[in-house]
Amino acid sequence: MKIEKQIALPVVAVIASVVLLGCERPPPQSTQIGYRGVGMEQYDNPRTLAAKRWANRPVESLPPAAEGGPMAKDVYQNVQVLNDLTVAEFTRTMVAVTTWVSPKQGCNYCHVPGNWASDDIYTKVVSRRMFEMVRAANTDWKQHVAVNGVGVTCYTCHRGNPVPKYVWVTDPGPKHPSVVTPTGQNYGSPTVAYTSLPYDPLTPFLDQSNEIRITGTKPLAGSNPASLKQAEWTFGLMAYISDSLGVGCNFCHNTRAFNDWKQSTPQRATAWYAIRHVRDINQNYIWPLNDVLPASRKGPYGDPMRVGCMTCHQGVNKPLFGAQMAKDYPGLYRTAVAETPAETPAEAAAAEASAAVEAVATAEAAAPAQEAAPEAAPAEAPPAEAAPAEAAPAEAAQGGEASSPAPVPQQL
Ligand code: HEC
Ligand code: HEC
Ligand code: HEC
Ligand code: HEC
Repeated sequence: MKIEKQIALPVVAVIASVVLLGCERPPPQSTQIGYRGVGMEQYDNPRTLAAKRWANRPVESLPPAAEGGPMAKDVYQNVQVLNDLTVAEFTRTMVAVTTWVSPKQGCNYCHVPGNWASDDIYTKVVSRRMFEMVRAANTDWKQHVAVNGVGVTCYTCHRGNPVPKYVWVTDPGPKHPSVVTPTGQNYGSPTVAYTSLPYDPLTPFLDQSNEIRITGTKPLAGSNPASLKQAEWTFGLMAYISDSLGVGCNFCHNTRAFNDWKQSTPQRATAWYAIRHVRDINQNYIWPLNDVLPASRKGPYGDPMRVGCMTCHQGVNKPLFGAQMAKDYPGLYRTAVAETPAETPAEAAAAEASAAVEAVATAEAAAPAQEAAPEAAPAEAPPAEAAPAEAAPAEAAQGGEASSPAPVPQQL
């Protein structure tokens, strides 16, 4: 009896490990990304990595345009954004855009045949705004999209599709009796990587700017105004972010202290800018197009299809594995010729951040330069709007009161 037990245990262990080994083949490779002993490692499976690389391969840039020649704005009638390009570069940009957005449909996806200047097709009006959005990304949001010179093109999101594959709208959630408010428990939503967490953290955090931080900063119980429910919304967003970038939590956090910026990786600072960048895209570029977009391009609440981390990243920490496509197209950067806003959004965020750095610096004079941004981010001035009431994200995710079916975007 005793001997049987002694034998049974190792046998079970051996069988179990053989069975578990079969879960993922070949065994995942780990890469250490933090100090030894803190368990900060990323895992990749060589087999799925190859498929991912194939799915996220870049397209080759067109050969450069001939130098010089007349300006597009002097030759064409209705050039409002790409007014700093020569005709040659302008034409090259149009060809590139066609391969990125509507390769099957061609030029006429955005143009009335025989009348290039006409704005009668909504897709052209949308595209003009998209050009402004991409120029803003590459010029004003370098802290996010150009840390290693990658940049953004139409292809980053579109990948040859008129409507990008990974867009989102406010999720009405599963069908439920009117007296019940579903929060996401026991509902496997792909948005939050099938966790049992609120199923639409995107509306409150990537469109509206509700507070993400939930960890108390004071030691005494009762001093933290954030509730457990709010924490679930934050965790829902974090599950979405991890899934979108194809990474674990410790790509950004040292999981012994999620809130502490000093123990976080530089990527967390990039992600801080990214969150603000995505809000800027949705608030200032996508929502204003809502009147132009047809009903087939909207969600159940009549809201436009918006951008999330997945729209560009598609499961990879650097979109298209860091291929530098944007730099070959001057039309994707704002130049002095084109109008420049007085203060760019990223500058505003940076100013906010650097003010906070000063405040932190007095307390911790020895902070290394690289940590300036992460240091700054947490101390960021409190957002203009008050911390969300417990139910705020839930309300937002459901489109608010019955009187306003579409979720009204909150002003930044
Ligand atoms: C995805 C949408 C899209 C596609 C596809 C597209 N264009 Fe355009 N096109 C635009 C936009 C937007 C403008 C206006 C740019 C501006 O205002 O700065 C424009 C403007 C033009 C103009 C200037 C017309 C004028 O008189 O103002 C020409 C010429 C042009 N496109 C040619 C082409 C050609 C040729 C193709 C195919 C190779 C093409 N376009 C494909 C979106 C597109
Ligand atoms: C408009 C496209 C776009 C969207 C949307 C986007 N990203 Fe990025 N992101 C990029 C690009 C491009 C880079 C690579 C920049 C570089 O290294 O030059 C990047 C890099 C990053 C990095 C650094 C990765 C590394 O390995 O160093 C993080 C972290 C990140 N993004 C987080 C996010 C998060 C979080 C979101 C959603 C809130 C998001 N991004 C949405 C385009 C995007
Ligand atoms: C950050 C991601 C992103 C980038 C970069 C981007 N787009 Fe888009 N685009 C979107 C989203 C999201 C929509 C869907 C909006 C909707 O329909 O509600 C869209 C829709 C469009 C549409 C409308 C298609 C249709 O059939 O309704 C056109 C045309 C378009 N984009 C052109 C462009 C062009 C041209 C560029 C580059 C200058 C570009 N986009 C860059 C995210 C992006
Ligand atoms: C790509 C980087 C990135 C990844 C991956 C990531 N986070 Fe975060 N996390 C952030 C950023 C940035 C913030 C701060 C957001 C802000 O202040 O606007 C944050 C904030 C948090 C907070 C709130 C901290 C506070 O101050 O209260 C928690 C908790 C958290 N993350 C948990 C997680 C968990 C759990 C995972 C994995 C499922 C995860 N994070 C994955 C970037 C990341």
